[in-house]
Amino acid sequence: MKMPPEPYRIKSIEPISLLPRLEREDRLKQAGYNIFELVSRDVYIDLLTDSGTSAMSDRQWAGLMIGDEAYAGCRNYEHFVEVARSLTGYKHIIPVHQGRVAENLLFSTILEHGDYIVSNTHFDTTRANVQHKGGIAVDFLTPEAKDLQSDYPFKGNIDLDALRVFLAEHPRQVKACIMTVTNNAAGGQPVSMANIKAAREICRSYRVPFYFDSARFAENAYFIQQRESGYANVPVRDIAREMFAQGDGTLMSAKKDGLANMGGFLAVNDDDLSGKLTELLILIEGYRTYGGLAGRDLEAVARGLEEVTDEEYLRFRTAQVRWLGEQICESGIQIVQPTGGHAVFIDACSVFPHIPREQFPGHALVVELYREGGIRAVEIGSLMFGSIDPKTGSFRPAPYELVRLAIPRRVYTESHLRYVVNVLGTIRQHPERNTGYELIYQSKYLRHFTARLAPVAPAEQGAVTH
Ligand code: F0G
Repeated sequence: MKMPPEPYRIKSIEPISLLPRLEREDRLKQAGYNIFELVSRDVYIDLLTDSGTSAMSDRQWAGLMIGDEAYAGCRNYEHFVEVARSLTGYKHIIPVHQGRVAENLLFSTILEHGDYIVSNTHFDTTRANVQHKGGIAVDFLTPEAKDLQSDYPFKGNIDLDALRVFLAEHPRQVKACIMTVTNNAAGGQPVSMANIKAAREICRSYRVPFYFDSARFAENAYFIQQRESGYANVPVRDIAREMFAQGDGTLMSAKKDGLANMGGFLAVNDDDLSGKLTELLILIEGYRTYGGLAGRDLEAVARGLEEVTDEEYLRFRTAQVRWLGEQICESGIQIVQPTGGHAVFIDACSVFPHIPREQFPGHALVVELYREGGIRAVEIGSLMFGSIDPKTGSFRPAPYELVRLAIPRRVYTESHLRYVVNVLGTIRQHPERNTGYELIYQSKYLRHFTARLAPVAPAEQGAVTH
């Protein structure tokens, strides 16, 4: 497959450079082998996240100049609300500075100790916010997603049977269903419209509110257009509207498909709920017409939301990610198939089969990508989601040991990505040079952000467990 040319040209550039290898090794040691601790100027190609890393358009930059920084009622809030409302159809649009604040507001308001939130898959901050409020986050990912190699087109779907059974068994204890589109923690895979509609019907029959986590709604809508029967001729924006019409509201991090560097919102239809959320918003985030954002940021998000459903852009975006996935596969490394919307997810066990899962093979690959090529990626495996069973003390691995190469929107070109493929090819030639890692320090919540690790001496490496 050939990557189509970018449907935009470069107007402003940001220099990047590769540190010498010995210095990269030194930076890793100083960072406690945690790539979140690296400073950005020491990173050559940064695929840590697609969040807040988009290149803004000239129209968005121009929008910054008309930021109205009045405390209350700035004109950019009006534009922000107009765009978000026409896209989602929800009545109340509550700005926040990023998605996890929307999570905090919603769960602080609707959860009591021991309540459940169900989802196709909670993202890590979503799960942590549920747990922080004493709730229990339960995922029901479709069984088709369990086979990483299958090319089922909607591996982000929720398991409808499991959802139905759980709601029947826990009447009144489930406070919401959160449908994550695309399903980031499950490989950036899309959710079909049919699955969304069926899940919402089940939730409605049990009076469980149905919300989206719509950080990547445009990529999801594009996949529906490309893959689901009946949608080939429906504009992406209309698909997005049809999707939002199924819900009671949405959590939105505008740092992804808002094409902005900061921003988000929470949207709901319920007047009473909106009142409670707004009260808390003013307490922890800011007045209701700015929600922790500058007027200029509200404008950048509003313009980003207008741009992101451009179908030429979405065609290039998904093709770029697919191209990277195909090139990596050709070098004999397994990835989650089919490629998702925003990232390629590498199966780290296919690169380092000799590293036991309790020694974090995904993390080992993340470290080696930086050591070998100055590339920053993120582990989505047992360092992020694994745990220790409190009763038995035994290691509970995450479902998979993945490494995510997230592609910032409108930032890197084919030659950058070809470089990434070449570095992976080099790593693949000598996997045995790499050892696993052990944790030296970990925090209670979201440990991967602040963990410190050390390489395990080769002799200590245990038997292969996968
Ligand atoms: N929901 C999803 C599906 C996400 O991917 C993220 C963030 C959030 C919520 C939280 O939003 O960062 O604005 O507070 N994902 C980023 C990532 C961090 O790298 O995937 P936020």
